[in-house]
Amino acid sequence: MNVLVVGSGGREHALCWALAASPLCGALYCAPGNAGIAREAECAPIDPMDFPALARFCRERAVEFVVIGPEAPLAAGIVDALEAEGVRCFGPTAAAAQLEASKAFAKRLCAELGLPTAAFACFTDFDAARAHLRARGAPIIVKASGLAAGKGVTVARAPAEAEAALDALAAGAFGAAGREIVIEEFLEGEEASLFALVDGKTALPLAGARDYKAAGEGGTGPNTGGMGAVSPAPALDDAMRDRAMDEIVRPAAAAMAARGAPFRGLLYAGLKITPDGPKLLEFNVRFGDPEWQALALRLRSDLLPALLAARGGELANFDLRWRGGAAVCVTMAAKGYPGAYERGGEISGLDAAEADDSVVVFHAGTARRDGKLVAAGGRVLSVAAEGPDLAAARAAAYRAADRIDWPGGFCRRDIGLPEGVTGAGER
Ligand code: AMP
Ligand code: GLY
Repeated sequence: MNVLVVGSGGREHALCWALAASPLCGALYCAPGNAGIAREAECAPIDPMDFPALARFCRERAVEFVVIGPEAPLAAGIVDALEAEGVRCFGPTAAAAQLEASKAFAKRLCAELGLPTAAFACFTDFDAARAHLRARGAPIIVKASGLAAGKGVTVARAPAEAEAALDALAAGAFGAAGREIVIEEFLEGEEASLFALVDGKTALPLAGARDYKAAGEGGTGPNTGGMGAVSPAPALDDAMRDRAMDEIVRPAAAAMAARGAPFRGLLYAGLKITPDGPKLLEFNVRFGDPEWQALALRLRSDLLPALLAARGGELANFDLRWRGGAAVCVTMAAKGYPGAYERGGEISGLDAAEADDSVVVFHAGTARRDGKLVAAGGRVLSVAAEGPDLAAARAAAYRAADRIDWPGGFCRRDIGLPEGVTGAGER
């Protein structure tokens, strides 16, 4: 079966890497892909938002299954458009993608169903939002309701920070995504990312993972798309995962089906594990990046039949097998990310980094210019490693990252440590 992956980041590289290993996979394409993805798949220079061009490509290349990586095309209806052309897709319809595309929608659903989540209020009037912030004080969370590449959330430790975040949204920092604002109670606890394949009815959890969202060590600095990940998630043991599936993921999936917008694809619950149990921070409607890069190294089952089963409503009798041990993924980002950063810096040393069998360097924002590998985005590389335990996987990932020569890049040194514990100086 010919397969097309849509997207160009580290997540899509890991998807292509896993799909390319499937005996069921014929030709593998990626639109648009990147310099690393070109090792696994034929890259086609098509914009993920250009649905007619993607549909044409599927016809021309006899693509039977499309796996969509990022949220923006999902929210814009890529699955609706391609399925209407007879192409099977892994991913939710635009209606089901509202779970991520509108944080206000997700929070209202939580409130209706009584799902455990932070107390919240939604605003379209900035003055009312400001009054609410003043009444509540800090710490408090200010979120753009719409899609903002993981950067639309401010965890404000002081009232002035919250007001500054609101000012930025009012000034249009996130465009239409910031027209509606969600203000939330601050939740304490360790984070975990719970991914589930959902086929409209049945939800099948993947192994647990956690993401390190802040740009700075010890969880400091602005939020990013994700500076690193580990699997398993220390806070998400089997019992906690089962609770989160029963208390959050399954009721949400059932509610979407009952509303006529059944969810098919990957439902991602961003959780805080609190003393009262798991609480939902957000839903996403696609694989997490960089959590998936860590999970991909631990997945023993063939990914392609699993994704096909989710599309086909056949998950009830499905199972996924995972390697024991652990995996760690360290994001290498351009200095300045998530703010302004430079592109074009040369990267070398990847062969040395990947000399260790337990390591895979997934590419996120890379390109090839004049035969040289160069940085072409904010998050540039995902250095992933597996090992018999977290410490071994962590050591292997940092050993590999340290072999990469890219003066314009940086990584957090504390991925795999509890947040708040700095790993600076460790190797
Ligand atoms: P979100 O995109 O909604 O998951 O938010 C991004 C990150 O902001 C989360 O991974 C948390 O680190 C943090 N965050 C979001 N909401 C809250 C909350 N209610 N309490 C504490 N931290 C939060
Ligand atoms: N790693 C967080 C995300 O993919 O949204």
